[in-house]
Amino acid sequence: MERKETDTPAPICPDFSWATWMREHANTAVSYLEMASVHFHDVKARSYRALGLKRGAVVLDVGCGVGQDACESKRLVGVRGRVVGIDYSEEMIAEARRRAKDVSSFPKFVVCEAHHIGFSSDTFDASRADRVLQHLADPRVAFEEMVRVTKPAGTVQIVDRDWGLVAVESNDQAVTRKILDHICGKIRNGWIGRRVPVLFRECGLQEVRVEALPITVQDFRVADRLLDLTLVAGHAADEGIVSPDETRSWLLELQERNDAGRFFAAWVMFIVTGKKR
Ligand SMILES: C[S@@+](CC[C@H](N)C(=O)[O-])C[C@H]1O[C@@H](n2cnc3c(N)ncnc32)[C@H](O)[C@@H]1O
Repeated sequence: MERKETDTPAPICPDFSWATWMREHANTAVSYLEMASVHFHDVKARSYRALGLKRGAVVLDVGCGVGQDACESKRLVGVRGRVVGIDYSEEMIAEARRRAKDVSSFPKFVVCEAHHIGFSSDTFDASRADRVLQHLADPRVAFEEMVRVTKPAGTVQIVDRDWGLVAVESNDQAVTRKILDHICGKIRNGWIGRRVPVLFRECGLQEVRVEALPITVQDFRVADRLLDLTLVAGHAADEGIVSPDETRSWLLELQERNDAGRFFAAWVMFIVTGKKR
């Protein structure tokens, strides 16, 4: 897939509840996930390699969104393999089904809560969740559910980012630090990236492999969509963390940097893969 930079408007509020947000902004959420999957393409490709799906395998994709990863998994496991994508959003599952219906022997998409996965124990050869744990009320419960439904010696994989490891180049380090800390705090589990490797070990997974991949963005509009900089800078001003003037100057500087080809932002994505005992 070729990388392309898009400038679709309407950012996602970082302290959203997906269920509420989806109902009100289903089209935007779908276009957001499409745009994000372009920028996370290399991470996703690397995650499939680490997952090592075999032909005929049975795979679970938790928080499958519009189903892109489930369809890719289906392609990898072939006609004899089976893939199930679950998501608690009815809108996401409807969109995933709509997109996949032209794919021969497409994945099965089911509305289901990550904290209570409605499948028997030891069902799947592999279970994965991509950028889902950061949003959950209790990531450990959902992770234990993924382990439960995975067969012994099967593979469990989490892909997620760490919102505490975001870098944005700016002349004003103090304001940048405050706004980025604010973004991290608005995500339910902003530090999930660094917590996942520990979770794997605490839950007894074996052969745990941790990969950390950088994402770099040199276009302010793209960073704004993927990080919600404008929106959260506004929240930070509303909450008195920075002043309205500081927010305006900070965003103006980022825009000016962009216009002069001097914008830069980066963060880290973690891919953690392990085997159930
Ligand atoms: C950032 S999106 C990632 C979607 C997809 N994994 C991808 O890589 O494009 C997070 C997804 O998790 C789903 N989600 C959030 N909380 C959930 C929960 N408690 N149970 C199941 N799905 C959930 C959302 O509806 C959304 O589709």
